[in-house]
Amino acid sequence: MSDLLDYLRRCIAHEGPISVAQYMETCLAHPEHGYYITRDPLGAIGDFTTAPEISQMFGELIGLWAAQVWQTMGAPGSVSWIELGPGRGTLSADALRAMSGVPGLKQRIEVHLVETSPVLRQCQTAALQSWAPTWHDSIDTLPGGPAIIIANEFFDALPIRQLVRAGAEWRERTVELSDSGELVFGQTPALGIAPVLPAGLSNVKDGDIVEVSLAAMGVVRTLTDRLRDQGGAALIIDYGHGASAPGDTLQAVKGHAFHDVLQDPGSADLTAHVDFAQLAVTARKAAGVVYGPLTQGAFLRALGIELRAEQLRAKANLEQSIAIDSALERLTAGDAMGRLFKVMAITAPGLSAPAGFENLHSSDDST
Ligand SMILES: C[S@@+](CC[C@H](N)C(=O)[O-])C[C@H]1O[C@@H](n2cnc3c(N)ncnc32)[C@H](O)[C@@H]1O
Repeated sequence: MSDLLDYLRRCIAHEGPISVAQYMETCLAHPEHGYYITRDPLGAIGDFTTAPEISQMFGELIGLWAAQVWQTMGAPGSVSWIELGPGRGTLSADALRAMSGVPGLKQRIEVHLVETSPVLRQCQTAALQSWAPTWHDSIDTLPGGPAIIIANEFFDALPIRQLVRAGAEWRERTVELSDSGELVFGQTPALGIAPVLPAGLSNVKDGDIVEVSLAAMGVVRTLTDRLRDQGGAALIIDYGHGASAPGDTLQAVKGHAFHDVLQDPGSADLTAHVDFAQLAVTARKAAGVVYGPLTQGAFLRALGIELRAEQLRAKANLEQSIAIDSALERLTAGDAMGRLFKVMAITAPGLSAPAGFENLHSSDDST
């Protein structure tokens, strides 16, 4: 039996069933045995591959997006580049390299990384040495001032609560022990839950699951307060949905394949789809200006990914050209990451629309 399974069994035996949010948080972030604490899960020999690991084009375009935000802010003398959950540091490295080409910007950037994984902090140290980053365990210790904040596949790792419709009431989905000591899902009454349910939910049927991430809403609230008062913009990229809807999206992935959520806790990545509508409502309540979400394909095309691919191809050999085409396809095609992944920006009031979102109409596709 793994150490984490043993720990969870003992906790549940002593204190009773735990919420799905507690289960997720323990599996991912337990200080000794948590999934992200113990490994680098990225890449072909890991569990999953993220967009910046597919191609340098992804981080470069985000860097140019950020440079444009800096210019629309009036080119402040100092700006924090903040990445939440930077993985191997690849996105930041590609973005900062692209930003360095913008006259007057490089010397104004301070790099701040919010990262809980000691293993991934080591990768980030190697990737970002020349930028002398400052690390933070949480957003609470970030310094003030104008900021450009990037989060790629960060919000999907934040714990969700799962609420189950039961007649006129709601119950909370829990993780508990079966008679034989196995981890199984259960339910307990969820009292006073109505205020945190997503607004605008309709057609919720008996037995449906509705997911709520108080952790994600808390992060968006804090970031928006900061952007509103001190200037800047945030870019959130993740897989998820543009409108709140019932559904069980909790999933485990191990070795690039789906895995049982309750089996071998701490050995697989646990995520849930991001409810962009909930995040948008939270940001607007804090007086942030919200753009999107757009699909990742539409966003990257608007930023000129096809042109960037053409530039790279011009200097590439045949093998490299094939890899560039394949990366372009993976990042933008509707049946790859182009449609499921969404991009949403939050800016301080008064800032003009960030790149990629200028021609956004309310009917833009975000499903
Ligand atoms: C799926 S990886 C994405 C990595 C990177 N953004 C990329 O696109 O390659 C999730 C990242 O978020 C970090 N992370 C997960 N939960 C976190 C938390 N609560 N606070 C800070 N970082 C966290 C992980 O250690 C990892 O760096």
